[in-house]
Amino acid sequence: MKYLAVVVAALLFVAANAAPSRKAAAPACATTPAQWTGYIYEISFADAKLALRVSEANYDRDAKKLKLTDIDVKESAKKTITLLDYSTGTSYTSVEGQCTKGNVTGIIPNFGVPGGATADRNGAKYLGSSLPNLGVLVYEYYGTDSVDGDYYVTYTPIGDGEVCVPILRSLLTTSPLKEAIFEYTNITTTLPADPFSMPPGC
Ligand SMILES: *[C@@H]1O[C@H](CO)[C@@H](O)[C@H](O)[C@H]1NC(C)=O
Ligand SMILES: *[C@@H]1O[C@H](CO)[C@@H](O)[C@H](O)[C@H]1NC(C)=O
Repeated sequence: MKYLAVVVAALLFVAANAAPSRKAAAPACATTPAQWTGYIYEISFADAKLALRVSEANYDRDAKKLKLTDIDVKESAKKTITLLDYSTGTSYTSVEGQCTKGNVTGIIPNFGVPGGATADRNGAKYLGSSLPNLGVLVYEYYGTDSVDGDYYVTYTPIGDGEVCVPILRSLLTTSPLKEAIFEYTNITTTLPADPFSMPPGC
């Protein structure tokens, strides 16, 4: 009996000490892979206008280039192809074949979790369902910043989670009233052929 009590006490001790490590801290998700391609579904409300866009995105952090090609648009959105070339500081925006050249400043976005974000204290979860094979392992982070307003972002980790893949980004600004949801799908790390060709008319 005494022996059993010792075993039970030992098991309780192990359980108590194992508990915190089971709820591992959220990974940093500070950046995406250096190269990726995928689709971005955006639904937004800004300047009293609704827009929906489905775009193909090509991204290369080392070449410092990002290209977004709309493949479907609804509401006020116009079919747009944008090439942001941070290596020369030039942007090319082609709206229905009409090209406008502009400047891009700063460094190419890394699409990672924003610096000031807080990781959701509930830790890992499954987007969709926690039933086997029906969900995607994700971590969520939220915060407020001067550009995006209130936001939450959802990522799935690669390896130790320093590098992650974005899944959702939701933004809400009260003044002016703006909101947007971005969903990322089919991201792969192999770019298609000629990923940063000039938009039409440029
Ligand atoms: C871009 O920058 C160049 C050089 O600083 C400037 O001459 C030009 O007016 C800028 N273009 C736009 C669209 O702001
Ligand atoms: C997304 O990936 C799935 C699975 O590989 C594939 O069947 C589908 O065609 C892809 N969709 C697009 C638009 O590439």
